[in-house]
Amino acid sequence: MKVKELTKDLYYVGVVDHALKVFDVAILTKYGTSYNSYLLKTKDGAVVFEGSKEKTEEEYLENISSLCPFKDIKYVFVTHTEPDHSGAIKALLGKNPDITVVASQGALINLGKIVRIDFKKHVAKDGETFEFGGYHFRFVSGLLLHWPDVMFTYIEEKKALVSCDAFGCHYAFDGILLSKLTDEEGYRDAFEYYYEKIMGPFPAFAKAAANRVLALDLDFILTGHGPVIDTRIGERVREYLRLPEKFFPSAVKDKVTIIYGSAYGYTRDLANRIAEGLKAGGKDVVLMELDALNYGTVRGEAIRALFTSEMTLLGSPTIGGDAIGLFYDILSAVPATIGTGRKASAFGDYGWSGEAVPNLTCRLKQLHFAVKDGLRINFALDGEGEKALAAYISSLLS
Ligand code: FEO
Repeated sequence: MKVKELTKDLYYVGVVDHALKVFDVAILTKYGTSYNSYLLKTKDGAVVFEGSKEKTEEEYLENISSLCPFKDIKYVFVTHTEPDHSGAIKALLGKNPDITVVASQGALINLGKIVRIDFKKHVAKDGETFEFGGYHFRFVSGLLLHWPDVMFTYIEEKKALVSCDAFGCHYAFDGILLSKLTDEEGYRDAFEYYYEKIMGPFPAFAKAAANRVLALDLDFILTGHGPVIDTRIGERVREYLRLPEKFFPSAVKDKVTIIYGSAYGYTRDLANRIAEGLKAGGKDVVLMELDALNYGTVRGEAIRALFTSEMTLLGSPTIGGDAIGLFYDILSAVPATIGTGRKASAFGDYGWSGEAVPNLTCRLKQLHFAVKDGLRINFALDGEGEKALAAYISSLLS
């Protein structure tokens, strides 16, 4: 049990999980995690903030009931409905069906599909203030960070922001408060990794949310995972202004990156000719050749070059009726939110069937790149091929 009074009448009632090794299939949790929730006692009854994961609901309910009987709970505020936070809400409503759920419209719809029972609702709207028990709860939209249903709550009298996933991290800490944590290096590592994996695909929303939060007078950020932030709050929030450039840097005007592989030199020749044409057109071109031997070294550089480029061109021969698999691996590192609007195209030489270009083009479109038609050349360039190449370069410059 991890009940802790944070300040008068405001308690941590979350569940700390040191044993967790992986989260959401693909995210490693080498520091474990916690599913944070909070309880505020008021003169008119108790308010709970956040649920917990379904498998931790027993401890969550125990923590709450150690502070007050379930019948005294009037509201549960749900900041976001991903099941690591909403999974235990059904059990809480089972203890007291009169509890009103306060959440954004989107979250209430999601929650209905998660709990599959009727419940009392109050729609939280951005900028509105909800009053109860002598407290003012101001709703601050989480601006799609990282689900569309996110609605932060600012508890004015406690100078506390319930932020759920935002500003949190997967770090299990029994001391609960960041001010008590001495493992600065581990916390920073966990904070940045969490940002990269969870918030990274939404850099503009992260910056916008950080700017909104910096305008609040705060003594606490009541996170959904990891330590409660009760110290150096501005510094923590400003990380959401810095980290977007670290993990998904902005595109540089006129920068074009050409990433290619070549079996017999034909696709390499195309890459060089395209580079010359684009340079002559005023572009700043970076050429990167990859193969199975150098891939481990150049992968990170290629992905970063893609993020920092106004346009990325992928050049692949066709082998086995498809593009070289390394290109799909590079694209697997690009969230569709980051691909959106960036320019891209594919080119390649082929011997038999030439599926590499249409297949890469298809994947680039799935990732929401602004895709220019590709260029396919069969073996060596002839007169027609030269014309197609010139037209391709010209289309890239237009
Ligand atoms: Fe911690 Fe988006 O759930």
